[in-house]
Amino acid sequence: MLPCANDFITGEKYERPSGAAPGANVSYVQSSFDDAAWEAVSLPHDWAISGTFDAPGVEGGLGRLPINGIGWYRRTLSMDAEVLHSGKSVFLDVDGAMSYAAVWLNGHLVGGWPYGYNSFRLDLTPYAKAGENTLAIRLDNKLDSSRWYPGAGIYRNVWLVTVNPVHVGHWGTYVTTPSISEAEATVEMVLDLENKGNSSQHVEVVTEVFERDAMTKQATGEAVAKFAAANADVAGQSKQAVHGSVTVPNPKLWGPPPSQKPNEYVAISTVSVGGEVMDSYETVFGIRSVTYDPSQGILINGERIYVQGSCNHHDLGALGAAFNTRAAERQIEILQEMGNNALRTSHNPPAPEFLDLADRYGLMVMDEIFDTWNFPKVENDFHRIFQEWHEPDLRSFMRRDRNHPSIISWSVGNELPEQRNSTGTETCRTLQDIAHEEDPTRQVTIGMNNANATTGIAAVIDIVGLNYQGEGKGDSWVSTFPSFKQEFPEKMIWSTESASALSTRGKYLFPITANKSAIVGGGPGEGGDPENNIVSSYDLYAPEWAASPDKVFEQQDRHPYVAGEFVWTGFDYIGEPTPYDNSSRSSYFGIIDLAGFKKDRFYLYQARWRPDLPMAHILPHWTWPEDRIGEITPVHVHTSGDEAELFVNGISAGRQSRGKYDYRLRWDGVKYRPGNISVVAYKNGEEWATASQFTADSAASLNVTADRTTITGDGYDLSFITVSVHDENGILVPMADDEISFEVSSGPGVVVATDNGDPTDMSPFPETKRKAFGGMALAIVRSEAGASGEIVVEAKAEGLSGGQVVLTAS
Ligand code: GAL
Repeated sequence: MLPCANDFITGEKYERPSGAAPGANVSYVQSSFDDAAWEAVSLPHDWAISGTFDAPGVEGGLGRLPINGIGWYRRTLSMDAEVLHSGKSVFLDVDGAMSYAAVWLNGHLVGGWPYGYNSFRLDLTPYAKAGENTLAIRLDNKLDSSRWYPGAGIYRNVWLVTVNPVHVGHWGTYVTTPSISEAEATVEMVLDLENKGNSSQHVEVVTEVFERDAMTKQATGEAVAKFAAANADVAGQSKQAVHGSVTVPNPKLWGPPPSQKPNEYVAISTVSVGGEVMDSYETVFGIRSVTYDPSQGILINGERIYVQGSCNHHDLGALGAAFNTRAAERQIEILQEMGNNALRTSHNPPAPEFLDLADRYGLMVMDEIFDTWNFPKVENDFHRIFQEWHEPDLRSFMRRDRNHPSIISWSVGNELPEQRNSTGTETCRTLQDIAHEEDPTRQVTIGMNNANATTGIAAVIDIVGLNYQGEGKGDSWVSTFPSFKQEFPEKMIWSTESASALSTRGKYLFPITANKSAIVGGGPGEGGDPENNIVSSYDLYAPEWAASPDKVFEQQDRHPYVAGEFVWTGFDYIGEPTPYDNSSRSSYFGIIDLAGFKKDRFYLYQARWRPDLPMAHILPHWTWPEDRIGEITPVHVHTSGDEAELFVNGISAGRQSRGKYDYRLRWDGVKYRPGNISVVAYKNGEEWATASQFTADSAASLNVTADRTTITGDGYDLSFITVSVHDENGILVPMADDEISFEVSSGPGVVVATDNGDPTDMSPFPETKRKAFGGMALAIVRSEAGASGEIVVEAKAEGLSGGQVVLTAS
């Protein structure tokens, strides 16, 4: 495989051994093999996600699904004789295949790429023939290859790209905007020309810049700038770069909402030889500046933007790793509703479409590549191939991603076992040097959980990225922010990972801790129930290396030079079900559960991150069994107001105001009596927001809603259907666990997966029956390809009146 890395290494190139024909004798790669009995699948595809949570050897950390083993994919590709005889090249662009991909065409090994999160291009041309071609792809996913659910299979898109001999190379443009003022911006572009023909060609490149509508993905209006035509003689079988610079008048800048807008531009390059157009290539970019200020943090276009970020894994809950644009978009919408303005792609390159969405939504991205370097975290992780592959992986990743305005920083690693020793320091320097070569415009960071200010790695890295140690781990309030600040006054500091608070949506355990943050355990007030694998949703509990959100907020506020935080995590994910790694299926870290339902702390973050949004949220729910009557049932309120008055069954339980380091209001002595609790929040003495909880009667009906009722009939678009169990007055029944059956009773749609956000629910994701959890369940409905019309989705449960929602596919 190593010769496939040649475009991304600076040292000696790898030679492909001549004469060898690896795998040619394996029947699956041969055209004559009859694959009629194989399962037909569509890409993106995750072979493990439909499995049962009992895969032999797959630990809880990886999510118990059958990710491991060898998987083969085959497809017949028709190729036109004319295309092949005209000297065109045919490339296979794979956005991501998990993992150790090896590709054959017509029985010949073409090449491959081991790292399952990276994208790669292979040249099929030498083995292509007119008519039918057999493409075979082998993947090899090992046990113990990851600390979380990696997914399995060709889980991202794959493209067949046909080009003329002279064309723009793969990821062949790099756009920068070195100077920006209100009147004008300088846009610089480097474009790689590739000539796959045998003779030298005189090539002309003309590039025009347009504003771009991110929704329609189209250039709009007249060109706003035109680069001077660039000419180059490109020798046969070689590459050559051309450079250009242009001025865009009155630039519309890219920046994060709400204070800025994510405006986009597109540079359309036309490549011609002798007046004949050979290629047309679009480069989407944004005009914006990023400044890394050691005392103010991140400045975008000169404005300080406090980083209100979250870390997220790549899986999309019940859909697994199989990338889906709508599922990723829904996540971004929910995060932005919370006021989340940044995302760390922990701990690996994302799908390319995710970055397009981030550009469009104005979401700032820390684009991260590795979780391990030379030393392992688990037996078969990336450390096995780090030495040979770190350079091609890092360079290819950055060339793919560097035009995205959403990316504000590169992260080259996370909690490396070697972060405190000299090997780690050297590796950090090597990776950062590569990153600076590929993109001198952005600073590089790393997540350090135990390197200190005087260990080497911190001296090397551009931005000090701290995991947990800034807020003080567990019960400790000793922050390392000051020591890093003192040692590196010229560097920006941020929390690459913070909180790691744990909770199960809608489940509350009594008593609660009186503290702001506590280490989770099984005893009274420790927030955990190890028998039922529940962590209390008061959101005050975390593992011993971590902290509650409130504690993180306080430490960030006490150290105002810190640029902000990336909370672990925005969404729950499959695997890593700390503190119940031995028996649950998915994480407890998310602010939002695996089904996409908000936990209480969603509102704690919203209160801090959207101070101008009038909001209040009150917890817990107020429907408790009889044996809780008269028992202490603390009431907490998350509000963007500064004061609030609580009423229990209409009687005031007192008015409280928020102190400087208070982030929630607590009435810890309230005793439960059925009825209702309500809160009136104030800001600057004026009424600001209200919230309440009512005691529910028994379950009576299912309330069915869709996030979108009109979807595209393309076999790919999704509608997320939420079912809530209500009593006869329309109040959510928070303990309801009725089994709900979902069905598309008519129309061109299919229920692809269901979930409820319960980390202990072991029924497979494709099941169309799902127990409600905390009174709620989710079904994901996909349109059928080429279809239109009404899709009726029904939900039923025994003894309850069912509900339905009607979608339109168009
Ligand atoms: C961090 C690690 C994350 C995740 C998290 C859970 O140490 O970087 O990947 O494991 O802990 O708290």
